[in-house]
Amino acid sequence: MAKIISILNFKGGVGKTTTCINLGTALWMQGYKVLLVDSDSQANLTRHMDFDASAGDPTLYNWMNDASINPPVYQRYDGLFYIPAGRNLLDIEAAMITKMNREHILDERLQIVSDFFDYILIDCSPKEGLLNTNAMTASDGVIIPVECSTYAIDGLVVIENGINDVKKYLNPKLEIMGMVITRYNKQLRISRSIINSLEKQYPGLVFDNKISMCVKIQESPFYNQSVFEFKPLPSAAEEYFRLSEEIIGVKHNRNWEKLVAKFEN
Ligand SMILES: Nc1ncnc2c1ncn2[C@@H]1O[C@H](COP(=O)(O)OP(=O)(O)O)[C@@H](O)[C@H]1O
Ligand SMILES: [Mg+2]
Repeated sequence: MAKIISILNFKGGVGKTTTCINLGTALWMQGYKVLLVDSDSQANLTRHMDFDASAGDPTLYNWMNDASINPPVYQRYDGLFYIPAGRNLLDIEAAMITKMNREHILDERLQIVSDFFDYILIDCSPKEGLLNTNAMTASDGVIIPVECSTYAIDGLVVIENGINDVKKYLNPKLEIMGMVITRYNKQLRISRSIINSLEKQYPGLVFDNKISMCVKIQESPFYNQSVFEFKPLPSAAEEYFRLSEEIIGVKHNRNWEKLVAKFEN
């Protein structure tokens, strides 16, 4: 049974997709079987996986609409898989609204494939709504990427309330695993103050490993690469790797850079 994690924040541009791809890749590098689910109609993760949307192959929308089709799981690398999204995912909420099990559709679908994976990461959309409720209902935990900016704390209460509602009415096992600080700039004094106030407001919920501002991350969608595929490795590679260890709860792997060889197989 996979551990299912929603990467969620109701703000766009905070690093949800980046975290989903790089955290997922780091877990895969450590030998876990990983499935990344693109649950955002903007389909940024899907593009990153080099999926050819024009070929008309089934995506998450088709599977959510019709449980009888084969799960639209595609392989990125041996052991690293994804379910793509298309623009039509925009229409899924309207299609689901009349269904009795409308909050549980993704949960029911992922249960079908859950035994094949160790981790399933869901790249959520920034929009509050039925699709994100489905993601949280299907999940064991939520990771919240938080951009290290003056407005970092704004909106976190809304997410907390959303998670608490799902926990209360739909999925009692749901937990906030933690907040991951993204676009962290050590040089700025304000960065430390932002982190301090987050840690004060959410004690024990901010992951130790922060993700720095990283130019290679901005380039990575262009090359369809994770941060681990750049040479030399950017600092964000080690940061995402350490974050993955924090999530699994393992001790620091000193030779982690050797695991990059997996891409050459
Ligand atoms: N640590 C980082 N350093 C620099 N740029 C980043 C970082 N994390 C994300 N980005 C960039 O910020 C933009 C938004 O990130 P993305 O992961 O797509 O956010 P979201 O999925 O929350 O909308 C992208 O262009 C991405 O390349
Ligand atoms: Mg995104």
